[in-house]
Amino acid sequence: MSKDTFFVSTPIYYVNARPHLGHAYTSTLADAITRFSRLMGKDSFMLTGTDEHGDKIVQSAEKQGITPQQLTDNVSAEFKALLPKLGVRYNKFIRTTDAGHKSAVQKFLQKVYDKGDIYFGEYGGHYCYGCERFYTEKELENGLCPQHQVAPTFISEKNYFFRMSKYQDWLKQYILDNPDYIRPERYRNEVLALLDSGALEDLCISRPKTRLEWGIELPFDRNFVCYVWFDALVNYISALDWPAGENFARYWPNAQHIIAKDILKPHAVFWPTMLKAAGIEPYRHLNVHGYWLARNTKMSKSLGNVVDPLKLVETYGLDVFRYFALHEMHFGSDASFSEEALITRQNADLANDLGNLFSRVLSMASKYFGGLAPAPGQYGDEEKRIQELAANSMRNFQTLFGNFRFSAALEALWELVRALNKYVDAAAPWTLFKQEKTEQLGTVMYTLLECQRKIALHLLPVMPDSAAKMLEQLGQPVPDDYNLQCELESFNGLKPGIALASSSNIFPRLELPVAEAKPDAKAEKAAKPMQGQAAQAQAGQAQSAQAKPAQAQSEQDKPLIEFSDFQKLDLRVGVILEASKHPDADKLLAFKVDLGEAEPRGIVSGIAMHFKPEELVGKQVIVVANLPPRKIRGIMSKGMILTAGDDENGLTLLTPLAESRPGAMVS
Ligand code: MSP
Repeated sequence: MSKDTFFVSTPIYYVNARPHLGHAYTSTLADAITRFSRLMGKDSFMLTGTDEHGDKIVQSAEKQGITPQQLTDNVSAEFKALLPKLGVRYNKFIRTTDAGHKSAVQKFLQKVYDKGDIYFGEYGGHYCYGCERFYTEKELENGLCPQHQVAPTFISEKNYFFRMSKYQDWLKQYILDNPDYIRPERYRNEVLALLDSGALEDLCISRPKTRLEWGIELPFDRNFVCYVWFDALVNYISALDWPAGENFARYWPNAQHIIAKDILKPHAVFWPTMLKAAGIEPYRHLNVHGYWLARNTKMSKSLGNVVDPLKLVETYGLDVFRYFALHEMHFGSDASFSEEALITRQNADLANDLGNLFSRVLSMASKYFGGLAPAPGQYGDEEKRIQELAANSMRNFQTLFGNFRFSAALEALWELVRALNKYVDAAAPWTLFKQEKTEQLGTVMYTLLECQRKIALHLLPVMPDSAAKMLEQLGQPVPDDYNLQCELESFNGLKPGIALASSSNIFPRLELPVAEAKPDAKAEKAAKPMQGQAAQAQAGQAQSAQAKPAQAQSEQDKPLIEFSDFQKLDLRVGVILEASKHPDADKLLAFKVDLGEAEPRGIVSGIAMHFKPEELVGKQVIVVANLPPRKIRGIMSKGMILTAGDDENGLTLLTPLAESRPGAMVS
């Protein structure tokens, strides 16, 4: 039986600016989902490339004193060269100046023209050279282009038009019938609102050669070139050798696009109606992500706030960059970039949680079993619980990742990572070793190692090099194609007796750059340089993230804690969405709090004596977000809301001074 197929594309990038974090993010994401699909057993294809026609390119080339062809050759090569450095393995890199693409665009135009959906007419409109499109009066903001905030030029000329308006009702119905055609939902709603807002106008799809020559000639009128968007969108099928290509037949039925919200309209409105007019099936999903912000503004060359992805990769390593990018942006929402956030994420999730787990378990296996995987004995209740948790966490990961909810998927996998660290502490293999309980020790160690193998397999799409290292340390091959689903069903993938690495130090802790370090961090550094993770991880004795803090003598007399203990706290800004009295306890309130995650968190808090629930709705609060989930009087609570004061003198909520993004880190 032939495999299911999967096709994903990035936007093809304009070559009038150098690649930055925003472009790198979309490409990394496309690579991660393609690798994931392969590991889920699908025959997968990733497409990326460069968009090389249009006014902007001509203007950029003129500025640099070179021809458009020279400019596009140079910058396209730069975009292409970036990809392997980001670990991106594409199947095709398309350029809109490729002969094959040009010929496909002409066939496409001819087809739509022959159908009667392209006509010649006169048009006057407000043209923005930055966007390369006309704006209607209504679309302008105070007379300015909403994207570039510059005054457009009024142009009136004869041109060819695509009868886009003819397909408005069809498109609306199609989007209504296919709820996940455009996702996340907020962008679907945006497109539906746009379609409802008034008649969709016809689309001007040509530029007279007297004004612009750098484009693809219309096959039915050599005096005009094709509008750059009409040309560019066709790349998604020309790359598959449409119309007759085998790849088109094979991959197009499962095509998905990834874009940021800046180019929603061309992808959600122009492209499906163009496909419909040409008699081609619509793509399957349009996946829309938000912007990477730097200093709270969309990254852009003109604002001078662009982040160079290569510098990040060089400084922090490829996999740390990829993990951060996928984890930090909740798909669909904007995300702020800061190096501090990247370092904190690396230290908390990778060094403390995952790295520490590998380091502890492998050095214990080396010490207790001579570096060979032990055979498990009889599984106890704890091991059965861990196996169930592993299956759930992998199932959630697979579903969420496949639906582009990368951050939530990684969180689901980390539930397992964190549970394993706790399991090490509770099972205390070093005590079993001392007590010579070899069979039980083997069961505990096998449970850990088998879970680690599963975790590493699931991390291959996100951190290809580190996950490969983890698998190698566990004596495993590194697959490209796989069937990850089978990992939910079995718990015997690791063969007893296989040779394991004797130590592991994949994610060393990073220090905050001095300029960004907090005073506490500086004091910490001055007092005691940070230890390497391997040094902490003496076999069996390692300080885990779950190590118990020293007992406080009293509320006022708490012992000093290490800065690293403080760093374990994940404090976040949350917005209270719902608040109600706990049905079974007078002192408790039950909340739903938005922490910028896919789902609001349920939190139960003992503050009912001090607040009326209805007064708290909409308030911003500070939440301890990484407490283990706990059922409190029958209601699951995942976190704690911070307050100041005490029961006697009254409580007040801690809240940020200025309104902050839900999920913003508190440090
Ligand atoms: N050439 C068109 C796309 C044609 S597709 C048929 C174009 N090019 S672009 O170079 O401007 O790329 C836009 C895309 O780059 C965004 O949709 C997104 O994928 C990525 N990003 C550019 N800046 C970004 C951010 N600041 N944040 C996130 N992604 C961003 O539009």
